Amino acid sequence: MARRRRAGWWIGAVAVAVVIGLGIYIFQFLQRNEPELHGNILEHFKYGSIGSDTGGSLLRSDTEEGRGVPASLWLALPVAFPEHLPKGRGNGYERVGFLYEPGKRRPIGTSFREAPLGQIGLNCAVCHTATVRESPEAPRRVVLGMPANQFDLRSYLNFLRKVGKDERFNADTLIPAIRKVDPDFSSKDELIYRHLVIPRTRTALREIDTQFGWMDRQPLWGPGRVDTFNPYKLRFGIDPARDASVGTADLPTLWNQRPRRGMYLHWDGNNNKVEERNISAALGAGATQSSLDEPSMKRIAEWILDAKPPPYPAERIDRSRARRGATVYAQQCAACHAFDGSKVGQVTPIEAIGTDRERLDSFTPELVPLMNTLGTGRPWRFRHFRKTNGYANMPLDGVWLRAPYLHNGSVPDLRALLSPKERPKVFYRNYDVYDWERVGFVSQGAEARRVGFPFDTAKRGNGNGGHLYGARLSAADKEALIEYLKGL
Ligand code: HEC
Ligand code: HEC
Repeated sequence: MARRRRAGWWIGAVAVAVVIGLGIYIFQFLQRNEPELHGNILEHFKYGSIGSDTGGSLLRSDTEEGRGVPASLWLALPVAFPEHLPKGRGNGYERVGFLYEPGKRRPIGTSFREAPLGQIGLNCAVCHTATVRESPEAPRRVVLGMPANQFDLRSYLNFLRKVGKDERFNADTLIPAIRKVDPDFSSKDELIYRHLVIPRTRTALREIDTQFGWMDRQPLWGPGRVDTFNPYKLRFGIDPARDASVGTADLPTLWNQRPRRGMYLHWDGNNNKVEERNISAALGAGATQSSLDEPSMKRIAEWILDAKPPPYPAERIDRSRARRGATVYAQQCAACHAFDGSKVGQVTPIEAIGTDRERLDSFTPELVPLMNTLGTGRPWRFRHFRKTNGYANMPLDGVWLRAPYLHNGSVPDLRALLSPKERPKVFYRNYDVYDWERVGFVSQGAEARRVGFPFDTAKRGNGNGGHLYGARLSAADKEALIEYLKGL
């Protein structure tokens, strides 16, 4: 009798321990928050986390979670739904402009975190890294910190939107596709994916579809451009139907942030704090105020303080002509564009600069107080957004890789910029072969057309007028100036 009672006591105790153990296991699993770490800062920039790789998975669905996509699913989507990718060059995500390095399973600009399941998010490199080739036969060179001229964010989002609406978005379609791309996918994973992850992701993708519907009324952005501030309006609950602005902006460079401290930048010069520009970019990439990975961001922020653009090939610069160009630059351009220029980091009014005004107008006065509420209660809280009346005079470091030029990327090369009558009405973006003659990327011709996106300057937000500085220089002075600009 006593023995049986003791046995019962033991069984009960073991059962309680098992339940507690399982509870702790599940609790720890759900709390798991482990980003893939990269010791090397360049690897960290390309593949590390900024905190956009959370949310979108198990229990939580609040909007304060990031825009992570479950990793095995993300890898399998192009296999399961190739028909929703745009036609063109490359396979899978290469079709929307993601860049892969040899031997890597996921492209530059993506990060991975177990939170609690493995998830993939976007980071700074997706919009701030691209490739350059010396000639069509030359190998491509990956340049960190330059505008991502090949990445087409809108095509990527449209792919996700179409996939989410496809009625075949279910476990029967997706599990076999996942097994093809992920040999480690276990039957335990399958259980979780089938019952939680796939249905939850479908709901999330359908939400993205509704949220990003406003994009459809804008002309295509094409590769290398995004609408910067309209997504924020959505976040603040401003009805996109009430606001038809086109805020499409060319991607800028990230180098030399240290000498940019205190300058009013972003294309319209709406913010003079490097730290706020960095964090607002991370929020734009899909991190949220609570998911932002501050230590990881700090490493990137520190690296871009002094990161340098790669120099223009020295053998392609005519030194004596460039010396003459230095004088022209000092007279015509330096006040607005040199690091020590008297007007650099300030705004030139729209009437004076005369470029397309849509990006300027898309940052509406009502956004200013709203942007300045982001980060409330956190050390990085925004305070410095302001409304301006023009575009910023920015430093021109690495100007050869900033092409196509102007805030909307509407002028393909330096020659066209300096000779407004030569600016093409339509040209092709996306081709990464460099045009050493015109100083920009090759933007006309059969190959540029084959791989390129036709940029039509007649569409809204794409105007290529204005910025007439240097237009009236003599042909020889223009040659000299271009030679000098190559070396910046
Ligand atoms: C979705 C694309 C995208 C991602 C991802 C992105 N950026 Fe940017 N970034 C932009 C665009 C577009 C601008 C120009 C904004 C404007 O003025 O309209 C910009 C501007 C900037 C600027 C100001 C540059 C200047 O000279 O005006 C900095 C600094 C910057 N980004 C840093 C970052 C950092 C750091 C990250 C990662 C945390 C990041 N960005 C991620 C698109 C992106
Ligand atoms: C009064 C100030 C001012 C002067 C002078 C000036 N610029 Fe600019 N520059 C700007 C502004 C403002 C922009 C941005 C305009 C826009 O994108 O709409 C700009 C943009 C540019 C860009 C495009 C940068 C990019 O990333 O796309 C280049 C290149 C450039 N300027 C070169 C020159 C050269 C060369 C000269 C001298 C011949 C010159 N600028 C004179 C104000 C100036």
